[in-house]
Amino acid sequence: MYRLKAKARLCFVLTRGAMRRNQIVLVLVWVMGIYATTLLCATVDYDHRALLIDGKRRVLISGSIHYPRSTPEMWPDLIQKSKDGGLDVIETYVFWNQHEPVRGQYNFEGRNDLVRFVKAVAAAGLYVHLRIGPYVCAEWNYGGFPLWLHFIPGIKFRTNNEPFKAEMKRFTAKIVDIMKQEKLYASQGGPIILSQIENEYGNIDGPYGAAGKSYINWAASMATSLDTGVPWVMCQQADAPDPIINTCNGFYCDQFTPNSNKKPKMWTENWTGWFLSFGGATPRRPVEDIAFAVARFFQRGGTFQNYYMYHGGTNFDRTSGGPFIATSYDYDAPIDEYGIIRQPKWGHLKDLHKAIKLCEEALIATDPTISSPGPKLEVAVYKTGDKCAAFLANDNDNSDATVKFNGNSYQLPAWSVSILPDCKNVVLNTAKINSASMISSFTTESSKADTSLEASTSGWSWISEPVGISKADSFAKIGLVEQINTTADRSDYLWYSLSVDLQDDAGSQAVLHVESLGHALHAFINGKLADIVQNISGSSQGINSNKHALNVDIPITLVAGKNTIDLLSLTVGLQNYGSFFDIWGAGITGPVILKGLKNGNTVDLSSQKWTYQVGLKGEDLGLSSGSSGQWNSQSTLPKNQPFIWYKTNFAVPSGSNPVAIDFTGMGKGEAWVNGQSIGRYWPTSAAPNGVCSDSCNYRGPYTSTKCQTNCGKPSQTLYHVPRSWLKPDGNILVLFEESGGDPTKISFGTKQVASLCAHISDSHLPPVEMWNSDTKSGKKVGPVLSLKCPHQDQVISSVKFASYGTPLGTCGDYYHGRCSSNKAMPIVQKACIGSSSCSVGVSTDTFGDPCKGVAKSLAVEATCT
Ligand code: GAL
Repeated sequence: MYRLKAKARLCFVLTRGAMRRNQIVLVLVWVMGIYATTLLCATVDYDHRALLIDGKRRVLISGSIHYPRSTPEMWPDLIQKSKDGGLDVIETYVFWNQHEPVRGQYNFEGRNDLVRFVKAVAAAGLYVHLRIGPYVCAEWNYGGFPLWLHFIPGIKFRTNNEPFKAEMKRFTAKIVDIMKQEKLYASQGGPIILSQIENEYGNIDGPYGAAGKSYINWAASMATSLDTGVPWVMCQQADAPDPIINTCNGFYCDQFTPNSNKKPKMWTENWTGWFLSFGGATPRRPVEDIAFAVARFFQRGGTFQNYYMYHGGTNFDRTSGGPFIATSYDYDAPIDEYGIIRQPKWGHLKDLHKAIKLCEEALIATDPTISSPGPKLEVAVYKTGDKCAAFLANDNDNSDATVKFNGNSYQLPAWSVSILPDCKNVVLNTAKINSASMISSFTTESSKADTSLEASTSGWSWISEPVGISKADSFAKIGLVEQINTTADRSDYLWYSLSVDLQDDAGSQAVLHVESLGHALHAFINGKLADIVQNISGSSQGINSNKHALNVDIPITLVAGKNTIDLLSLTVGLQNYGSFFDIWGAGITGPVILKGLKNGNTVDLSSQKWTYQVGLKGEDLGLSSGSSGQWNSQSTLPKNQPFIWYKTNFAVPSGSNPVAIDFTGMGKGEAWVNGQSIGRYWPTSAAPNGVCSDSCNYRGPYTSTKCQTNCGKPSQTLYHVPRSWLKPDGNILVLFEESGGDPTKISFGTKQVASLCAHISDSHLPPVEMWNSDTKSGKKVGPVLSLKCPHQDQVISSVKFASYGTPLGTCGDYYHGRCSSNKAMPIVQKACIGSSSCSVGVSTDTFGDPCKGVAKSLAVEATCT
């Protein structure tokens, strides 16, 4: 067992004066308005079975919420929804580049207020897993490393390198110190029960060789020496040295075993979906498969499981990693990007958590006894004394099965697990969803109140961004430069400019051959946009480890005499994953060659004297705030032209639902609302055809490309604007448009739940809540269809569809089957209309029997207002 001296001392002090001290604490708690539960110090240890909190083994369900991907105003609601969904722990990375944008200058304000976030979790009575990293991956710019780190002389990232280790230790210690000062470790009475150092280094450590091994040993002892009083983990690090716990990340972790029999089996990233890329389709992971994976993990001895992500959120500013990670980091998580619960994902997992918790006492008491009653079938029993819980699994991806266990027969759908908290009665099967589903929709202001953007605003004004060199700090250099070393990521943009004298080639059609490390490129010849090039190879498959080199031939027309070549090279989020990802580089490193000149000549321009400009003139002028600059509102608004800054005013969309802007009609750029960047937009970047599936079969192993949607459509059209960034009136929207768009096509609107649906068959299990009463009373409770409005102040206002019999279709599109009871509509209306939630028993007792001998179900679609 891993014991911690410092914390043990603190707890001893508190327990010695038990009564008196606790009373004082409680009075203080009351005076200070802080929650009592968080002030009493707890020991956190571990053993072979589980984490131990105050000496008791715990089954813990955790979920990731990254604080800078939402706003402090959203945090309490997200955390409460996590708690309501059955989570015990909130996991977050710590984002170094957010906190130390300039070496030695710290930022813990606003979305970076880590202490406020951790306290918000504590206030809800949940625990925290703090993954300090400080390398985090996370589809976050440069994996979370601040750019200045790259410029420290002699530095080599993530290996046995003194300058790197010194900085990593300094930042890690800084975070630990802040947490200690605020008394946020469980050992001090705070919510933090666990910390992580590094991130998945074991996946990419090969090329680092022996130095990588020394680095990981150093990282382990550095972390341990910080004396947090709670255990540390390393994920995907099979050689994590004691006392660090090695944990698993993946879509499935049931087969994982930690590297010592003294460590518990923990799953730090169960991917609830996958991230979206510009140029990629939208990933979806069916909840039946997630529930199956979770149940399999607990079936095979796991005791800690974290959903990555539980709420994904938004990559505001230029925080997205890359390249080409989209601004939305929705992740198909149980809580969507906007903070709305995603159903039935959230609800089914909530039911699963309750089912697993019903087994907790048996789970923590012993190891499972596992047997296989047939091919791809598995029975796991946790039994000691009077405690017994069992998991029955059918691993087969197409055929259902019947399993005999303890003298009873159990039907197991393909690719599912049944959970039996008393080794006899099934409380839940992972493939049978009792939870209602929801359809959420985007309602534009104009469709609500007939106010198009133009009418609801005071119109658009604009400023042109010059093509080519326009700033005083431009500089000339012989040869081509690497982009990140040149811009230090102060901007996405680097201009490469050159003029060439070509008397003999006037009017001829030539080819400009450009080789770049990426990520995208706009080429202007004699001031005219010749081409926009991006390389998204790999990103559309959701793989973020590819290199993104561009190798292009751009047809151009030359004029007599001087020809100007202005190449704007762009980064679209810095690389965040892979061995040595920090030095892969970007930009036009060459060669750049003029081909197809008269007489078949070629001219290599690579070693010419190029002029460079980091960033845009408009960036230097601070146009993003909308307040400065000579905004032009008199003459005609330029449309579909590259390099225009646009500005408009708008009123906040009414109501309290989350706000989004639909950028359909625009090309590529970045947008700011009241000076706050809402991220890069790129609605012209579309998902390829042929990588989506109309229907998604949850059975069988999941991969991130298995159930994609949105093929052939823009990867992202809607962009989240947190309500707290908006004023009732006079909000300023500024865009920088790179490739050309029509801003009058932009619309504002809100996201809301449009419909609530449920489809429950007579073979569904009763609700998990009924399990106790069911088994204790001996009375058989049947399946129940339940609906609940998303907001407390809403009621069910209409029932759009209700059918008991053999209804077909999916939410939003149900229709009657061959058999239906005419009582369904009046019964459901009576039970539901006017209430914020309702339940209807799914049986012939309620509806009569419209078709004897046929398996029946009840499908309902309703709306709330
Ligand atoms: C993991 C990594 C996470 C995140 C995830 C994909 O490998 O640890 O930080 O990048 O992949 O979303």
